[in-house]
Amino acid sequence: MTMEEVPVLLERRGPVGILTIDRDSRLNALSRATLYALGRLGKELVDDPTVRAIVVTGAGSRAFCAGADLKERQGFTLDDVRHQVGLYRSQLGVLDTSPKPVVAALNGVALGGGLELALVCDLRVAAAHAVLALPETSLGIIPGAGGTQRLARVIGEGRAVEMITLGRRLSAAEALSFGLVNHVVAEGQNLLDATIAWLAPIAEGAPIAQAAALKAIRASYEVPLERGLELESVYYEETLRSKDRNEALAAFAEKRKPVFRGE
Ligand code: COA
Repeated sequence: MTMEEVPVLLERRGPVGILTIDRDSRLNALSRATLYALGRLGKELVDDPTVRAIVVTGAGSRAFCAGADLKERQGFTLDDVRHQVGLYRSQLGVLDTSPKPVVAALNGVALGGGLELALVCDLRVAAAHAVLALPETSLGIIPGAGGTQRLARVIGEGRAVEMITLGRRLSAAEALSFGLVNHVVAEGQNLLDATIAWLAPIAEGAPIAQAAALKAIRASYEVPLERGLELESVYYEETLRSKDRNEALAAFAEKRKPVFRGE
């Protein structure tokens, strides 16, 4: 089988589903086949009731993802490029709206579309040597896969303007101070193992509450505060009716760890 037939690997480690972009020779750049594979395999994990959290990472230690596959793009017409940019929305949408938290594990550079993929995820964990940037303006374009919209939402407008107009490259430590990554894994530690350990409260948590929290937080960007507070009540109600809530109360009374079933 050629690399293009399997550009993304799917693995399950207990309740954690892992998608690994497997194109190290091209620094895990996003080819058309890679975007389709992320969409198809992402849906498989979202639809799998045994999966509580999803990790997206890249093969090797050089790159999480170096962005668009610039070699593939060389042969593209303008319409091909437009279609490809559309794939970021249509194929990555399943991760964007996932009811299970999606964590990007940045095992190396996250550039352009690579950082935009990480921004589609809910959380970002970085290896200490990771480098993050949106260098598109230096290539005569702008981020076209959500970067201009999502970056400012995560780190604020001023810092987003700085990163995009200066094409500024952030180290993992700088990205942590910007709030662009949530956690940095020290050199010498295995990134994937450390990421899975870090997200244990999600993987062992109550799935209905996790999904409700994500819906409520995502809604906060879309609607005025008053409406957001109403929506929060709606999502709170979903958790109130769950068996998991009763299990948490029972576990507290019995001084044991709760076992959540997503019911
Ligand atoms: N698309 C396709 N192939 C890519 C790629 C991309 N976005 N980025 C890197 N590669 C390929 C290189 O062409 C090279 O392949 P080769 O050995 O067949 O020539 C291989 O990956 C390794 O890259 P190389 O540039 O030799 O590694 P480096 O460590 O010297 O530099 C980067 C790493 C990330 C700084 C550099 O590759 C780079 O700037 N890439 C483009 C990033 C970018 O601008 N992305 C798009 C943003 S819109």
